[in-house]
Amino acid sequence: MKIAVVGYGGVGAAFIKLLKDQKEYINKEGIKIQVNYILNSRGGVYNPHGIDCEDVVNSFEKDITFNTIIKNKDVDLVVEVTPTNKETGQPGMTHIAKALENGMHVVTANKGPILLNYKGLNELAVKNNVELCIGCTTGGALPSINGGIMDLAGSNILSIEGVLNGTTNFILNEMEANGVDYSQALKKAQELGIAETNPTLDVEGWDTASKLLILTNVLMNQEKTLKDMNVEGITKITPEEIKDCIGENKKYKLVGKTTNENGNVKMSVKLEKLSKDHPLYNVDGKNKGVRYTSDPLGDLTIIGGASGVTPAAASILRDLINIHRGYKFSR
Ligand code: HSE
Repeated sequence: MKIAVVGYGGVGAAFIKLLKDQKEYINKEGIKIQVNYILNSRGGVYNPHGIDCEDVVNSFEKDITFNTIIKNKDVDLVVEVTPTNKETGQPGMTHIAKALENGMHVVTANKGPILLNYKGLNELAVKNNVELCIGCTTGGALPSINGGIMDLAGSNILSIEGVLNGTTNFILNEMEANGVDYSQALKKAQELGIAETNPTLDVEGWDTASKLLILTNVLMNQEKTLKDMNVEGITKITPEEIKDCIGENKKYKLVGKTTNENGNVKMSVKLEKLSKDHPLYNVDGKNKGVRYTSDPLGDLTIIGGASGVTPAAASILRDLINIHRGYKFSR
């Protein structure tokens, strides 16, 4: 399979590294992955016979761009990992649409285009008989959206509840376990590289909101926007509140929730105190979790999928392998 990697930040670089580290498992799948392009915002590297990924950093040329990929049409799949812009979706929106129109599969980590126009992009994928995989946009290693698409197929999803952001979960956990204050815990999350470049998206609830919105629109067949959601973050939480919560035998979690009452779909993101019998109580550290109620397949809770660039990159590799195996994501 010939591929282009568009975006060479944390996740893009981790993906290139994984192709080497996971070579044995990739070979077992019977795929040969050849990277023809690596692009970042300053230019790109291109080799129609496959790039030597060991040494790309100094080889970027400014006239190798996304248009080169479209002109040459010499890849089967585009990994789109440019940064999320939730207002315009660009540049990912154009990259994904052009790749699909030109018969290339797309695996993306970019939430912007999926938030703004999953429906249109999915239609393009179907029309061009290729796959659009968005597993990384709703929690990376947590199989949230693909669990919904594949394992709840044929069932009516009635509600979605999730601890969908590793950074905020890690911060709350640090405050509980080590008694540190909010800013110390945030600093540690940044040092570990799990927070977004701009951590406001994490701590004010927008990363959770974006993931919940994608899950809701895709799995519950809605066309909602972020404006339809009440969003609160964790920035005002104090060590005293955490202590009181522990005293009640509960844990604070930033919970994204979608409910559907007789067709009235409501979404929210807010801090909740979960008691021990709640299925998401044990989602700890950098982990995440999602709970679906559905009919007739019943309730399903998935926990794990720690946040970080390597697990995110691994979720892209997972989608790529599943395309090779012949799974259909776009419908
Ligand atoms: N910063 C996010 C998190 C990962 O903490 O879960 C990317 O969505």
